[in-house]
Amino acid sequence: MKNPALIILLVLINFACQQAPEITFESAQSEKYRPIYHFTPPTGWMNDPNGMVFYENTYHLFYQHYPDSTVWGPMHWGHATSENLIDWEHQPIAISPDSLGYIFSGSAVFDVENSSGLGTSENPPLVAIYTYHDMEGEQSGKSDYQSQAIAYSLDKGATWEKYDQNPVLPNQGIRDFRDPKVMPWTFSDGKKGWLMTLAVSDRIQFYSSENLLEWKLESEFGQNQGAHGGVWECPDLIPMTAPDGSEKWVLLVSINPGGPQKGSATQYFIGDFTDGKFTPDDQLIRWLDYGPDNYAGVTWANTPNRNLFIGWMSNWLYAQVVPTETWRSAMTIPRELSLFEVDGTLLVKSAPAEETLQLRGSSFELDKLQSNLPSEAVEITAEIEDEEAFSILIENEIGEKVLITRDNGLVSVDRSLAGNSDFHPDFAAVHSAPMSWEANSLRLFLDASSLELFINDGEMVITSTLFPTEPWKKIRFSENLSTIKLHNLAEIN
Ligand code: FRU
Repeated sequence: MKNPALIILLVLINFACQQAPEITFESAQSEKYRPIYHFTPPTGWMNDPNGMVFYENTYHLFYQHYPDSTVWGPMHWGHATSENLIDWEHQPIAISPDSLGYIFSGSAVFDVENSSGLGTSENPPLVAIYTYHDMEGEQSGKSDYQSQAIAYSLDKGATWEKYDQNPVLPNQGIRDFRDPKVMPWTFSDGKKGWLMTLAVSDRIQFYSSENLLEWKLESEFGQNQGAHGGVWECPDLIPMTAPDGSEKWVLLVSINPGGPQKGSATQYFIGDFTDGKFTPDDQLIRWLDYGPDNYAGVTWANTPNRNLFIGWMSNWLYAQVVPTETWRSAMTIPRELSLFEVDGTLLVKSAPAEETLQLRGSSFELDKLQSNLPSEAVEITAEIEDEEAFSILIENEIGEKVLITRDNGLVSVDRSLAGNSDFHPDFAAVHSAPMSWEANSLRLFLDASSLELFINDGEMVITSTLFPTEPWKKIRFSENLSTIKLHNLAEIN
């Protein structure tokens, strides 16, 4: 080849081709608003966490997923796995819709004694129990368009087979009949079996089974209890130990709309569960998280002595119009639920799971008056001196800001001037929570499009998504905050 111009051109083309993958890679990493350490789907739509189960040293996280669009559609169960709740590996889609319907939310259990007969005693199955949503049925005016069904895996969750006689719990003529949360259970005669907690319109139904395939109604709860501004969804019944050592049962119930900040939120009840029946201790309405963006969360199955929780970090009010481009929604950080008591009342505390400490990279002390934020992914920790009020102001270079305050017994996060909010009229708002007791410490997690505030290690929690036009750059603290530290948080997959 003699022509020097042609040689230069070919060298340039060759160089450009070699560079191309790197450019694509870099732009994917810097996708606007993509969280750095919160779980997000690789692409497309995500809502509720589903089927969380710990099995053979692996945490499984399934999730409501529509891979072909960034808005809700035919639901699949997306799938990811982790050994530490922090680094997640995306797996192939686990369960896809079929002629019986979309695959709605549900749970998964390890059927260790092969009670279902879907595996063998040498190779017992992982069993997923989900809701079929017959979209055509709903659109044609039927009321029995939701039913419970089963899929199982004999290779540690890598591939899933649907049970050939689905559904296992057909609908009984009630419109909203969904989100089965199944757990091991012992019948009153000592026989081992399973308990399903199901959201049924404006109440919870409890079903029992010996084999995961045949279900019997045990009892109902809640038609005249708790908050009822919307439909009840995604329940979870969790045994917990009270500070006095007694056993209590906590029933999580997500509700949409009707949350304390408009739209979606998760309420909970504390009481007893005896002979298949839940009885609440009192009539108090309790909320798990006072922020607008923690919905449909439930706990992991098969983690003895730990109630590990993750929620969908969004709100049905605006989830489908938030300004992200290739994907929509993230999960909260993993949290650990436990009971604490304040002025004679039992409440649930949601602490950041201790695994989140692994995210911490370099740490340094911050100046109260004004400090720079070195990255979008940080955790701030501080002690609160003995005073009623405190405040934290987070700003970027173009004057957008979030203000966190505690005053007059209210903890508030003001995101009304926090940047991009014109996608929904209710997004720019102040979200307040009543906190009558003393606040001693705080942990604040910031990521590219969210804030999670934990006071007293989760006695009060506010989770809020944020879409600043430019990244946060500065932070200021009130005088009564001390030992203020910033921890750089590492990237996950
Ligand atoms: C809650 C929910 C569930 C349902 C799923 C459908 O966010 O409405 O009740 O199973 O989402 O995607």
